[in-house]
This record gives sequence, C-alpha cells and structure tokens, in this order.
Amino acid sequence: MELIQEGFEVVIVDDLSNSSLSVLDGLKKITGKTIPFIEINLQDKNQVSKLFKVHPEISGVIHFAAYKAVGESVLKPLEYYENNLGSLINVIKEIEKKENDFPFIFSSSCTVYGQADKLPIDELAPIKRAESPYGKTKQFGEEILIDASSANDFLKVISLRYFNPVGNHCSNEIGELISGAPQNLIPFITQTASGVYKKLSVFGDDYPTRDGTCVRDYIHVVDLAKAHVQALNRILNKNHSKKYEVFNLGTGKGYTVMEVIKIFEKISGEKLNYEIGPRRKGDIAAAYADTRKANDVLSWKAELTLEEALISAWSWERKNRNK
Ligand code: WQD
Repeated sequence: MELIQEGFEVVIVDDLSNSSLSVLDGLKKITGKTIPFIEINLQDKNQVSKLFKVHPEISGVIHFAAYKAVGESVLKPLEYYENNLGSLINVIKEIEKKENDFPFIFSSSCTVYGQADKLPIDELAPIKRAESPYGKTKQFGEEILIDASSANDFLKVISLRYFNPVGNHCSNEIGELISGAPQNLIPFITQTASGVYKKLSVFGDDYPTRDGTCVRDYIHVVDLAKAHVQALNRILNKNHSKKYEVFNLGTGKGYTVMEVIKIFEKISGEKLNYEIGPRRKGDIAAAYADTRKANDVLSWKAELTLEEALISAWSWERKNRNK
C-alpha cells in the first residue's frame, strides 16, 4: 500500500498459507490498481529461480515471508526452520546472481533481544538466546544476511526489528487475516469483545512491572509500512552507510496488558471479559524500543497511537464478524 503510494511498481509473492487473495481486492479498492500477484512456495528453489528468470525487472525485495506464531514454533520447530530460513536462502541465492546494487529489506523482530537488560532497547543491545524457534529464525536470518551481504558486492540489507505490530489500514479494506485461533493479544481482545471467545486470559500479573502484567511496545502497522519505504529508499538513494544495517521499529512507549485492556474498553465502549491466568512460557516481562536510530537515520517516527490502532483493529473485527 505505502509502496504503491510512493510510486513503486509492486509484485506480491506469497504461498497463501497464512493470507488470502482478498487482500488484492482490498488493495484494488484503495489504490484503483490491480497488483500483480504470484503464488509460489519460496521453499521450492526451482519456483524461486523461475520467478527471477520470468521477472528480471525485480530490483528490490522486502522479505516478509515467514511463519510467525511463537507458540506454534515451539511445537513445530523444523517447519519453522525449513520455511523461514529455507525460503530466505532461496531468495538470497537468486539475488546473488544480480550485477548491480540490490536492496533487501528483512522483516525481523524485537524477539531477537530476548529479555533485554536495559530499557528502552537500542540496536546495540546484546542478542540473547531466543526463547522460541520463531525468535531463533529471526536471529539466524539476520546472521545469514550479514554473511551473505559481506560476501556479495551488490546485496545491500536493512533488517527492521518490529516491536509489536497492531492495527489495520484506516480504509478497513486490508488487515490481519488470522487462520485459526489468534496468537497475539490484540486480535484476542477484539475476538473476545465480538463474542468469538468467552474470556481473555491475561498471561500472568506477577511480573516486575507497574501493574504486574507484561509491557510491550505496540506499533501501528501503517507506521511500520512507512518505515519499509524509508528503508528501501535509503538503499536506492545510496544513503546506506554499511552493507548491513539494522533498525528498531517501535513507538518508544510501553503499555502493560491491563493498560491495553482499559484503553480498548474506552475506545470500544465494550466491557472486556478477562481473567488473570498463568504466565505463558517464553514471555518476557518488558520490551519497548529506543527509536532514536530510526528517527535520526531513517527519518522515520511512529505517528499513530495505540488508541488509533485499537480503533482500527476493532473496526476490522466488526467488519469481518458481520460478513
Ligand atoms: C503481547 C502480550 C502476552 C495473548 C510476539 C512475537 C513478536 C511479534 C509480536 C512478529 C504478552 C500477553 C497475549 C493473550 C495475554 N511478532 N497476552 N493474553 O509475544 O509480545 O510478541 O508477537 O512481529 O516477535 O514474539 O506478542 O501479542 O502474543 O503478546 O496476556 O491471550 O500480551 O503475555 O505479554 P509478543 P503477543
């Protein structure tokens, strides 16, 4: 969406394992354009090779393709390594054949930090052992890109470490499509409020935080999308200082789970049915971003608030529930 508005020619490549063709209809309604879509499994190197042969005009990649459910990754680690890392390597191997600067933007995650020793978390924070195979695929993915960009003259990489992406596009035409039970807090809140689930379980209230529940940095997906355009332009305009750069993408402000619930109740007018349950394995107490590097170097700053994200998420849930 943001790339199209910036004037880029975009082609979407996806295996539809966790998304839907309806996104294309939404994009058409918003932009008036039919966005080219190619359905392939990036784990199949022959399909990836054919993609780059048929589309030699591809001059940059934003790589989102990965499974991303932390809990699921603990149950299916090999599927996560095979998909998240196998797909990444197949795409990089095609880019290595290019003979001019090629921008590669990688969707990474604040999960790579584990429980940071210092808050807010900046990009120099030590990378600790990830709590889940999902988190490890992001750590390993970054390492693969560091080594691949160092060994290749043209591959230029920016890794964007997302904090907690939330919300939907203000048009209510595109948003998160969840197959099965939601893994994350915000969709669980909206689906509890809309009656899909009877009660939300708050995973623990005995953490060392202001109200005992976990603190996270919730960033609106539209702000997140704008950061990708900034990162792509940074490389295309040859402003990148190194072949591999990394930026934290957050708002710089942390909210506890209970604070999120209260804000949701205020913006929706719904009383949320919740209980305090046991901690979730692998959760960290608190994480929120030091955003100065992205602010100063990417000339990017999150502008939308958690309230706006929750309003868009609630609107999206009601639209989909009433279908
Ligand atoms: C947020 C908070 C839970 C559900 C993960 C990935 C991260 C990123 C976002 C991709 C936590 C609490 C949740 C519920 C709850 N992924 N919670 N009850 O785990 O911080 O981050 O998703 O970019 O890389 O690690 O997000 O939304 O699952 O949880 O109390 O039913 O809400 O304990 O404190 P998380 P989340």
